[in-house]
Amino acid sequence: MHTQTGSAEIEERLAELERLGLGRRLRLVSGPQGPTVLLDGKPVLLLCSNNYLGLADHPRVREAAAEAAMRWGVGAGASRLISGTMTVHRRLEERLAAFAGREACLLFGSGYLANLGVIGAFAGSGDTVFSDELNHASIIDGCRLSRAQVVVYRHRDAEHLLWSMRRHGGRRERNGRSLVVTDSIFSMDGDIAPLREIVELAHAFGARVMVDEAHATGTFGPAGRGALAQAGLEGEVDAIVGTLGKSLGSYGAYVCGEGATIRYLLNTARSFIFSTAPSPPAIAGALAALELLEERPHRVERLAGNARALRRSLAAEGFRVEADEMHIVPLVVGDERDTLRLCHAAIEQGVFAQAIRPPTVPAGTSRLRLAAMASHTAGDMRLAAGVLASTARKLGLDPGEIGTPPGKPEPEHAPVQDAHAGAGRGLEHALQPALEERATPFDIEAPRPRRPPAPSVTGEQESRAPFDGEREDAVAHAA
Ligand SMILES: Cc1ncc(COP(=O)(O)O)c(C=O)c1O
Repeated sequence: MHTQTGSAEIEERLAELERLGLGRRLRLVSGPQGPTVLLDGKPVLLLCSNNYLGLADHPRVREAAAEAAMRWGVGAGASRLISGTMTVHRRLEERLAAFAGREACLLFGSGYLANLGVIGAFAGSGDTVFSDELNHASIIDGCRLSRAQVVVYRHRDAEHLLWSMRRHGGRRERNGRSLVVTDSIFSMDGDIAPLREIVELAHAFGARVMVDEAHATGTFGPAGRGALAQAGLEGEVDAIVGTLGKSLGSYGAYVCGEGATIRYLLNTARSFIFSTAPSPPAIAGALAALELLEERPHRVERLAGNARALRRSLAAEGFRVEADEMHIVPLVVGDERDTLRLCHAAIEQGVFAQAIRPPTVPAGTSRLRLAAMASHTAGDMRLAAGVLASTARKLGLDPGEIGTPPGKPEPEHAPVQDAHAGAGRGLEHALQPALEERATPFDIEAPRPRRPPAPSVTGEQESRAPFDGEREDAVAHAA
């Protein structure tokens, strides 16, 4: 029978996932996302929540959500363009636009939906999207759905972006539109995109820019206003995407930009148009969280202090971790099964840091992704580092071999900062000699050692090996 064949195939696929160390299951957290939780009934230190500022269960945020439920109800009842736009949506949009330093803002159901919607609105068939190889899956999926040509450039590599834009043309040289899209802080690596270079290049080539600040809002930049604000570039990009689901302790997302851009998005972004408006309690909760962030930015400093303490403690235990203030700390183990073993054993010892494996990260770079929260203490961080180190050793893993991925190699001929030396003439001009020196600037087929395969240009989605496909996408973004 069809059903039996179907379920046998599904069982086989599940078994294969398990065999590859790629099986997933849900773990149950009782109570709010605090620094310690009951995980499947066992008390653990929580080191993998994106509730960075500890606002998801703040009394004012809870109260605001509860009051909103009483005042407006739980559901918005319709999409925004039908009857789902309520006062609470308008209020949060106005506050977020001011927070981002932009004219206007549009709420979406989630960050995933926002990325699908914006990319699809900015690029379509005949257009080109330039995308960092380690962008979040929602960006990858937005690229695919858009039907644009997708050009994937090496992670944080402005020189490679330049080369890609020269090769595949910006809007000036072709009829199509171009879009450059990047995370600002990368979700699984905790490193930062070269935003200034990206903006310069996009301007030089007449391309639009979309920046996803999901992990930067509330955690980075002046008073937690993000990486674009830190670089003074808030006004220089076409769309700033943020989520309400991380620092802002709720659920939903937003896009900020010029008034005309936002009007365009509400007319064209399909994930906005064809989805129910976010629920009033979620929006009111995020509004209260935003007010708290603006009133008391000390939470951002506290988060940075905890991130520093976590990194210092990990380094003291022998892990390969840099001593900065980034709240996302990847402990790259490499092998999928080893990563899973370390995760399970650490939970047994009372520390919960989720194992992140393909398709979320490229094969061979599986990791525990640690996330500091403002609600942790320095003592929590010391405890976590000690447990992780002793657990790793017990499993025969050397902490000295575990840590943040090696940094982006410096360009061979023209360091990116030289771009600024050619002041006023732009990155393209500054990098010109380096590009001319290379017969083939980058071999787009050949991988670099210890780095994901080289960028690719894709049209239609390629057929993929079982269970491997999503991982390939994470690397090559099949369109
Ligand atoms: C960089 C990035 N963008 C977008 C999203 C999706 O946001 P949301 O959880 O609101 O759908 C995430 C979530 O993990 C993310 O890390």
